[in-house]
Amino acid sequence: MMDLSQKVVLITGASSGIGEALAVALARHHCRLLLVARRGDVLNALADRLRPDADDVDVFVGDVVDADQCAAAVEKAVAKWGRIDVAILSAGLGIYRRVHEFEPAEAARMIQVNVNGVVNCVGALLPVMIRQQSGVIVGLSSLAAHFVSPVSAAYAASKAAVSTFLEGIGRGVGKYGIHVLTVEPGYIRTPMTRNNKKLPFIIEADDCAARIIRGIRRKRTLLRFPWQMMLLIRLTRIVPRILMRWVVQRKAGRIVMR
Ligand SMILES: NC(=O)c1ccc[n+]([C@@H]2O[C@H](COP(=O)([O-])OP(=O)(O)OC[C@H]3O[C@@H](n4cnc5c(N)ncnc54)[C@H](OP(=O)(O)O)[C@@H]3O)[C@@H](O)[C@H]2O)c1
Repeated sequence: MMDLSQKVVLITGASSGIGEALAVALARHHCRLLLVARRGDVLNALADRLRPDADDVDVFVGDVVDADQCAAAVEKAVAKWGRIDVAILSAGLGIYRRVHEFEPAEAARMIQVNVNGVVNCVGALLPVMIRQQSGVIVGLSSLAAHFVSPVSAAYAASKAAVSTFLEGIGRGVGKYGIHVLTVEPGYIRTPMTRNNKKLPFIIEADDCAARIIRGIRRKRTLLRFPWQMMLLIRLTRIVPRILMRWVVQRKAGRIVMR
């Protein structure tokens, strides 16, 4: 298993939720962390909290939709520590809307953050990792990539794009010593899901982070969890369509995410 001590880890979306939980857990592994997100005050407060455990911590305030800012974040890590061992791309938006409330500009922004954000970061990371002949790229997709409801149409489309993009990149980088891990979780308790009281098989963010770290250390290429949610998604493919439509429509009325 990969030893993470003193490894240089860049985390986008580190100011909240899964990214933050990963930063906390990786600090305990004594990593060198570059925390990336738009809210500098939140990142700086987190960096102060992590300093006693981490080997080193720095922050980069930026928007992943801007390719130049992604390149600058990667440059900052390389200038400071000489390399990037692991990059975790967790920055994302999860906006669910009922069809009569659909807002195309909002959906387009979410797709930009979720898809272009990952594409921009991978674009900035590849030359560095190819030069190093090593590196791990971890992308946060979702089980939503495999199950779409009326409220999650744009979100699910963005995550299907992320999974497909990472799968393709992953197939081409092995010869450079680079490894790609696609993570497809079910519901995780984070600020993204806080408006929903009853999400099935929800997992705590620190449990999610522990599973991702295990996946990185074991060089996994795909993580899907929890198994109960996977089973539910498989069942939706075999239950009669008419029953499924009824379930989805009832659920669509209740799910509201930010
Ligand atoms: N929670 C779930 O149930 C769940 C399930 C499956 C997959 N996921 C995926 O896991 C990832 C993390 O989700 P989460 O639940 O941890 O969400 P979260 O708590 O809302 O955190 C999202 C993070 O993304 C950052 N971010 C958003 N837009 C950004 C931008 N344009 N540029 C840079 N950073 C940006 C936010 O920081 P700033 O606001 O400071 O920029 C924040 O740190 C997302 O990709 C999400 O789709 C979540």
